[in-house]
Amino acid sequence: MDARTQVREAAEYIAARMRVKPTIALVLGSGLGSLADEVEDAVALPYGEIPHFPSSTAPGHAGRLVVGTIAGKAVLVMQGRFHYYEGHPLERIAFPVRVFKALGIDTLFLTNAAGGANEGYEPGDFMIIRDHINIMGQNPLIGPNDDGLGPRFPDMSTTWTPELADAARRAAADVGVGAREGVYMWFTGPSFETPAEVRLARMLGADAVGMSTVPEATVARHCGMRIVGISCITNMAAGILPQPITGEEVIEIANRRRPQFVALVKRTIELIRD
Ligand code: HPA
Repeated sequence: MDARTQVREAAEYIAARMRVKPTIALVLGSGLGSLADEVEDAVALPYGEIPHFPSSTAPGHAGRLVVGTIAGKAVLVMQGRFHYYEGHPLERIAFPVRVFKALGIDTLFLTNAAGGANEGYEPGDFMIIRDHINIMGQNPLIGPNDDGLGPRFPDMSTTWTPELADAARRAAADVGVGAREGVYMWFTGPSFETPAEVRLARMLGADAVGMSTVPEATVARHCGMRIVGISCITNMAAGILPQPITGEEVIEIANRRRPQFVALVKRTIELIRD
């Protein structure tokens, strides 16, 4: 079965069960899954039920789609994302994004936990993603191009939609949280970066480093979606502080900042114009 048929079957399965027509898809990062509990009039679909959907294994990721309303807007929430380090080929990671597009969703809201590479950042900071760096030698669009989905050589100059980043900035002011704006650099993981890699990232202009988000953004850009992203800086990236980085620390800080993150994301959703 070709990829397009799989996307269509998954979209039909979801469309038949949702009670609202979402315009925004929200991907929840590590420790942020509970935002899905705030969805009103929710219909929840475990990934395992949806035809052709991959299933998630990363800690802190539940593995279901929740469709309903947040802040009065119809949204589809992806509670639990797929990471390259779990062994999913990048086209599997791309799959949900293409399903969202097939459902008529034109805006993708990506969230994640990330390490601060910018020495001016502090754990607990939020960063609105202005741009990203992918020098991993991997790209979810490698392979034959389906011209019906998007162009062979998609332009990436405004991947992170400026008006949506502006909405996030206004949202931060409205809810009274600080927000940085910066560049997210993708590493495959699952090992955290070395101090030398973090120095490299900083030299290249990265403010934060993480193991997700860029594959989804690349696919979303390919199929013409608008994209906004916010990182929760859960730790300083390797080598900045004289201490090791642990997965537990990432989850702990993400959990601690969750109320503010939830408020920021909700307000941003409210401010996004269709
Ligand atoms: N590196 C990569 N991914 C991360 C980090 C980090 O320091 N913190 C949270 N996710």
